Amino acid sequence: MRPLRLFLAVDPEDAVRDRLRAALVRVRPLSPRARWVDPAALHVTLAFLGDVEPDKLPTLVAAAADVANRHAPMTVRFTGAGVFGGRRPRVLWVGLTGEMAALGAVQEDLAAVLAPLGFAGEDRAFSPHVTIARATERGGDRLLDGCAAALAEEDFGASRLSAMVLYQSELTRGGPVYTKLADVRFAEAHGQR
Ligand code: 2AM
Repeated sequence: MRPLRLFLAVDPEDAVRDRLRAALVRVRPLSPRARWVDPAALHVTLAFLGDVEPDKLPTLVAAAADVANRHAPMTVRFTGAGVFGGRRPRVLWVGLTGEMAALGAVQEDLAAVLAPLGFAGEDRAFSPHVTIARATERGGDRLLDGCAAALAEEDFGASRLSAMVLYQSELTRGGPVYTKLADVRFAEAHGQR
């Protein structure tokens, strides 16, 4: 069996996704050559796993479930925008505020649990974001700066993050196609209704 390209993410609620979709439609003409993410696929990556042998899936899901069990759901707000890449903008993103320490703790716990399973993780610090467009030119796309400026003051609303999702990413000519393989819920506090 072929390896699966996988990542773990949290998803915005539908109301936020709808606002992101509307914003994306609005700013898209400002950077016509960029590759825009399908609004249905917008997510916040917690861990990129790369190519994984299918027989490792149960171990992976169990590890993610263990982590999810140690953390409560958190509320974050999707707001503002920026670019990665500096003078060669390659990624246009929407930012997050709110219970970021809680989200960061999940990401750290995941990284710690995944490392011994052979998933090295990123060297860079965790920088939670929703990628909404990517430059197609190697030298970056300065027009993405204009998109970021247009979205800088936008508030896309809050979401309660109640689960982590394991996604498969298939790279196709039309762009990546993400398929949800599993979700693992954060632990609701005992005694809460
Ligand atoms: P990005 O949105 O910042 O590009 C699926 O590819 C998800 O995994 C994307 O959200 C992507 O983040 C993230 N990711 C992190 N590291 C990656 C890597 N080395 N290659 C591809 N995607 C990566």
